[in-house]
Amino acid sequence: MLPRGPDTPPNSPPPGPSEDGVALSEAEIAVHWREEERYPPPPAFVAQANLTDPTVTERFSEPHFPECFGAFGELLTWDRRWRQVLDASNPPFYRWFVGGLLNASANCLDRHLAKFGSKPAFLFVPEPESEPTTALTYEELHARVNETASVLRTDVGLRAGDRVTIHLPMTPELPVTMLACARLGVVHSVVFGGFSGEAAGRRAADSGSRVLVTMDGYYRNGRLLDHRSLADATVESARREGQTIDTVLVWQRHPDRYLSASPPVPGRDRLFADLLRGRRGTRVPPVPMPAEAPLFLMYTSGTTGRPKGCQHATGGYLAYVAATARWILDLRPSDVYWCLADIGWITGHSYLVYGPLALAATSVLYEGVPTFPDAGRPWRIAERLGVNIFHTSPTAIRQLRRLGPEAPAQHRLRFKAMTTVGEPIEPEAWRWYYTSVGRGAAVVTDTWWQTETGGFLCSTKPALDPMKPGSTGPALPGIYPVIMDENGREIPAGANRAGNLCIRNPWPGLMSTIWGDPERFKRIYFEKYNRRPESKDWRDWPYFAGDGAVQSADGYYRILGRVDDVINVAGHRLGAKEIESACLTVPEIAEAAVVPVADELRGRVPELYVTLRPGIVARPEIERKVVRAVETEIGKIARPRAVRFVSDMPKTRSGKIMRRVLAAISNTLEVGDVSTLANPEVVEQIRAQVRGASPGPARPPPDDLREFGTTE
Ligand code: WT7
Repeated sequence: MLPRGPDTPPNSPPPGPSEDGVALSEAEIAVHWREEERYPPPPAFVAQANLTDPTVTERFSEPHFPECFGAFGELLTWDRRWRQVLDASNPPFYRWFVGGLLNASANCLDRHLAKFGSKPAFLFVPEPESEPTTALTYEELHARVNETASVLRTDVGLRAGDRVTIHLPMTPELPVTMLACARLGVVHSVVFGGFSGEAAGRRAADSGSRVLVTMDGYYRNGRLLDHRSLADATVESARREGQTIDTVLVWQRHPDRYLSASPPVPGRDRLFADLLRGRRGTRVPPVPMPAEAPLFLMYTSGTTGRPKGCQHATGGYLAYVAATARWILDLRPSDVYWCLADIGWITGHSYLVYGPLALAATSVLYEGVPTFPDAGRPWRIAERLGVNIFHTSPTAIRQLRRLGPEAPAQHRLRFKAMTTVGEPIEPEAWRWYYTSVGRGAAVVTDTWWQTETGGFLCSTKPALDPMKPGSTGPALPGIYPVIMDENGREIPAGANRAGNLCIRNPWPGLMSTIWGDPERFKRIYFEKYNRRPESKDWRDWPYFAGDGAVQSADGYYRILGRVDDVINVAGHRLGAKEIESACLTVPEIAEAAVVPVADELRGRVPELYVTLRPGIVARPEIERKVVRAVETEIGKIARPRAVRFVSDMPKTRSGKIMRRVLAAISNTLEVGDVSTLANPEVVEQIRAQVRGASPGPARPPPDDLREFGTTE
C-alpha cells in the first residue's frame, strides 16, 4: 500500500470516510531530480562562521546523547538551573532540562539590555513605501512588552497557563504581544493573519482561549485590509464550538486612527491605545516558568481536518532555536537579519522572534508581500538596511525570479548567508538564488523541519558541508534520521529508493504533545514504527515526520513532499479534510475531494473534485460558492486552482473516495490499477472530462518514486 498518513497508522481503523482512499501523495508527484553538483562554502563565509569545528558531529553522536544537548541549555539564562538534561522515562513524552526555571521574554529582552539596549531588535518596514522604517531597540521593545504584559495581567486578568489567541498581521505588535504573554507564562496561540475568522475561531476554541488579540487593519499587496472585521466571525465560530471569547483586544495600525469598518463591540472589545494610557514605564517582573511549561501552541493541519495544537515547551524549544539560529543561520548580534516568513507560521516564531531575540540579533520585520510594488522591493530593503542574512521560501524565490530575474543585480547586496525553507527547491531556482542573489559569495542552507519539530532538523552546516541544490543536506548535530519502508525496514543511503523520513531520537525542540490530546500525539507521530508499545526506551519510538525522502550515497537527504493527506501550498501545510469540509458547507455539494497538483510557482496547489446533490445541475455560480466557502472557512491560501464537477467519485468497494486516482488524473500521471474499485468506469469518464476527449500520453511516474506508490 501507499505510505499512509500519520493519522492513519496501519493497525487502527482510520476515522474519516475517505481515509482509506489514500491520496496520491506529494512525494509521488515529485519530479525526478538527477544528482546535482556540489558547491564548497565560500571562504569568506567560513573565515567568520559561528560553527567551524568539524568534531561537532562526533560530539553530538549517539554515545554522547542526550548530555550533548546540555550545551544548548547553556545558551540561555536560567532562574534555576536544570538537574537533568533529558527525562526520557515515559516515551514519547519527553522532558528537557528537568528542574530548570526560566522566562522566555527575560531571555529575549532583559538579559540583553546592559549590552545591547540601544541596538535595534526589529527594523519595521511597512508595506507602503511612503511610510518610514522604524527601529525598535531592545530597550524600547522591553518597555512595550512590559506595558502590554501589565494590561494583560491587570485589565484582562490573565495568569500563567491561560491561553490567548493572537490573530495579527506582520507588525511589531505581534512579537510584542507574544513576548508579553511569555513574560506572564501565558500560552500564546498565534493564528496566521491571512487565515479567516472562522479558522481562527476553531483554533481559539480548541485552545480554550477566552481572549483574542487582533488589529484594526493592515497593508498587504497595496491594499488596506480590514482585519478587525474578522474578529466577529472568530468569536462566533469559537462559540459554535462551545468556547466563549469574552475579550477582544484591538491594536491600531496607526495609533491615531481606527481603520476598521466594524466598530468596537461594547463590553467585549477594548482598544490597546486606551488600556495603555497611563502605563508608560510600567514594569512587570518575568514569571519564572518550569522548562517544560508550554510557551506556545501552533496549530498545523493534519489528515483528519481538525488542526493539531502543537505544544512547545519553554526551555527545550528556546534552547533549540537559539542554538540552531546560531549554527545554521550564523546569526550574531552584529548581523542584520531578514526572515521573510510570517510570524503566524512556525518559521516566524522560531527564526524571526525567539531564536534571533535570544541571540540579541537585529531583524527586519516586513509587513507586506515581497513582490509589492515590484520584485525589486526585497533588494531595495536589503541594500538600504544592510541586510547580511536572508531567509525565505522557494515559493518567494520562484516568484522573485520570475518577476525580476535581473533585479538583484541592480543593488549592492552583501549577503553572507541565505536560507530556504518550507518546500523542496528546484535546482534551477536554487542556482538563481545562489548566483544572482548571493553573487556566489553567500552560503545557502536548505533547512528541512516542521511545525512539530520546533527548529531545523536537516541542513548543511554552512561552513563545514558543501551545498547541493535541491537537497537539504545531512542531519543537524544530535539528530539521527532514518528512512524506512512501509514495513519498517531501513532504506540505506545510496539505495536510490524513497521512503518515510523518521528521526530515531528525541531532541529539545520536539513538541511536547498535542494540546489536550496526548493519545493523538502518540498515535500520529510514533505508532507507525513502534514495535513495542510498552517500551520505555526512546530507541523504540522513532518520530514519523510524514515526508517522503531519499538519501544519496553522500548522506544528503532530498525531501520529496508529504506522504499524507496534507497539501503543502507555498511552504505551508493545508489539511485535505479541512478543505473538503469547507466545500461541504455549500448546500449543493454532495461530496468533495481535494488533491495536490504540481504548480510552477507555489509548489503544490489544491484542486477540487465535487459531486452535486440529486437534481442540481453544475453552473459557474456553484463553483464561485465553493471557492468562497474555502476562502471563508480557511483563507485565500487554500483557494483551489480548479473546481471539477464530476458525476461520481472513484470509490473503493467500502465506499471510500480514492483521492489517489483523482490526483493522478490532475497531475497527468498514470492512474495505475483501478480494477478493484467499485466503479472503475468513472475513472475514464473523469479523465476524459479533465483532459478533453483525446488525452495525450500519460507521463510515467518519476523513476525514483516507482516503488514508493505501487504497493497498495
Ligand atoms: C513540511 C512542514 C518548518 C518550515 C515551515 C513549514 C515541508 C519544510 C522543507 C525543505 C523540502 C520542506 C515538509 C515538511 N518542508 N522544509 N527544506 N525541503 N520540504 O512548516 O507547515 O509544519 O510544514 O514542509 O513537507 O513536512 P510546516
